[in-house]
Amino acid sequence: MTSYKELGLVNTREMFAKAVKGGYAVGAYNFNNMEQMQAIVGACVETKAPVILQVSRGARDYANINLLRNMARGVVEYAHELGCDIPIVLHLDHGDSFETCKQCIDNGFSSVMIDGSSLPYEENIAVTKKVVEYAHQFDVTVEGELGVLAGIEDEVSSAVSHYTQPEEVIDFVSRTGVDSLAISVGTSHGAFKFTPEQCTRNADGILVPPELRFDILAEIEKKLPGFPIVLHGSSSVPQQYVKIINEYGGKLVDSIGIPEEQLRKAAKSAVCKINIDSDGRLAMTAMVRKVFHDKPAEFDPRKYLGPAREELKKMYMHKNIEVLGSAGHALD
Ligand code: G3H
Ligand code: 13P
Ligand code: ZN
Repeated sequence: MTSYKELGLVNTREMFAKAVKGGYAVGAYNFNNMEQMQAIVGACVETKAPVILQVSRGARDYANINLLRNMARGVVEYAHELGCDIPIVLHLDHGDSFETCKQCIDNGFSSVMIDGSSLPYEENIAVTKKVVEYAHQFDVTVEGELGVLAGIEDEVSSAVSHYTQPEEVIDFVSRTGVDSLAISVGTSHGAFKFTPEQCTRNADGILVPPELRFDILAEIEKKLPGFPIVLHGSSSVPQQYVKIINEYGGKLVDSIGIPEEQLRKAAKSAVCKINIDSDGRLAMTAMVRKVFHDKPAEFDPRKYLGPAREELKKMYMHKNIEVLGSAGHALD
């Protein structure tokens, strides 16, 4: 058993209380490798922002849990060396069972998500409560989910979304004891969140997706005043990256994300954790494709992963400053 406290990590409790009070959201960024980790932490140190490092099942399969834990330990020292001891959470993204959550809690994670959103309501409550009871013994915080996002949530995929029902949230939160709640208000996973048919065109001919259901968010907020709310599937799918990818041999057709202004608006409400994975994938892919095109004789991985890491860092800085509003809040 390794406690996250030995690794210099923190749980989400105080982080979220400050975010809700301060009207900003903390970036929950997925990572699978060293370059992503360096970019995320480098960006958060430079913008003085708290951060949640997220590990999905795909990341655990790809990178190995022992390596990931030790990377998190290393990153605490790395932030210190870079000059700012920002609060860092190591979080399990979309935990699929009690066993997965327990394994992560026992391996130094400071926060876990138990995603029972595809289960019948009472089963979701039962598994979430079981995870909370175990996690809280070790002061690990737990995120639950109510409502189903369209797209792929790790192994679980759904063609349509089911919005969170505000009338269920008080019962769910009080019976499970969760520390935060992920909700479904129109976001979805991946880089293809909407079809062009679901969008309208603005005066410049740019596709504008439908608004998130801020009315549902407001109702939830009214039922659970001050309670930390989480938004998954919140990549904006920056079109400059899609353009570079397609210009240099890629083929991403009709990839559409959540407009930044809508995320900014959500971050000012009870939403205090915003999950972003796909945008990081796009930024890295764009730069790697560009280097391969511009320098076809290059074969040193540092020469293409380095520029990808640099772009990624820029992107996370932009998110913290312009979208989430978390910049400057690391030492509140
Ligand atoms: O929730 C979805 C995340 O983007 C995780 O994706 O399992 O492919 O790493 P992944
Ligand atoms: P995106 O696919 O929109 O980046 O969402 C990531 C996410 O929700 C991870 O849990
Ligand atoms: Zn998610």
